[in-house]
Amino acid sequence: MSDYGSRGNKDRSITKSSDRLTAPPQRSEPRGTPRDASAPFLIGEAMTGGYGRGADILHSCTIAAEAGQIAVIVGPNGAGKSTAMKAIFGMLKLREGAVKIDGDDITGLSPQDRVAKGMAFVPQTQNVFTSMSVEENLEMGAFLRRDDIKGTMAQVYDLFPILKDKRRQAAGELSGGQRQQVAVGRALMTQPKVLMLDEPTAGVSPIVMDELFDRIIEIARTGITILMVEQNARQALEIAHKGYVLVQGANAYEGTGEELLANEEVRRTFLGGR
Ligand SMILES: Nc1ncnc2c1ncn2[C@@H]1O[C@H](COP(=O)(O)OP(=O)(O)OP(=O)(O)O)[C@@H](O)[C@H]1O
Ligand SMILES: [Mg+2]
Repeated sequence: MSDYGSRGNKDRSITKSSDRLTAPPQRSEPRGTPRDASAPFLIGEAMTGGYGRGADILHSCTIAAEAGQIAVIVGPNGAGKSTAMKAIFGMLKLREGAVKIDGDDITGLSPQDRVAKGMAFVPQTQNVFTSMSVEENLEMGAFLRRDDIKGTMAQVYDLFPILKDKRRQAAGELSGGQRQQVAVGRALMTQPKVLMLDEPTAGVSPIVMDELFDRIIEIARTGITILMVEQNARQALEIAHKGYVLVQGANAYEGTGEELLANEEVRRTFLGGR
């Protein structure tokens, strides 16, 4: 039995603008080319590619996320989930396919240029500077910004109060769950439009996982689009507006989180059979 409805993830209301973690929306398309309103905010479209000169890992893989919604990628180990995230963030050169944000084709851009376009990525491993303090980690997140970052930092501390208490402590001394909060907080310091998270709940207890998912819902409610990979597939699909099951670098199933949780085959093969 899923508690899909009780997490309130269908609420698309946006909090008042002073609460926004994002920069005010900017028109990025050239004049005279109206954006297709039906297109998703973020899409990695028919992505094919691999590492260096190696064999293709992704096979015409398509992943999309609507503005202010939560999209989740699940699938077995080695399916290419992290590779898909890296491709969308520009860490992997695609042989075919495209990545678009708000209708803007960014396939040729470097990761740093994608950050300037409003993308933030929290990788699966080594996502904090362990010898730096919590606050220094957050400051590092804002390295591209030239404006005052204090307001955003206050918002991150509101979202994750424990980080404020521990702001002078080295990130390496924190628990796994707190480190993930630092990593997410650091990503939010760029005021992203899209937040990409690769297994944000890896290695944390079920209680900490629930807590983190609640914060992720809260972030989406401020209007930020979330794309995340999750090993805790069932729980993640419960908060997902859209879910993707990847197998061997290709789309195997997709639907709303609710649909995937209800799909017999998905349940049997990917969700532990119940
Ligand atoms: N840097 C790399 N260089 C070469 N091959 C890689 C690299 N990273 C991953 N791979 C290969 O790409 C394939 C997909 O790996 P990927 O890490 O994307 O899977 P995943 O779905 O994220 O798995 P997991 O659930 O274990 O995180 C695997 O066969 C893996 O060995
Ligand atoms: Mg991975």
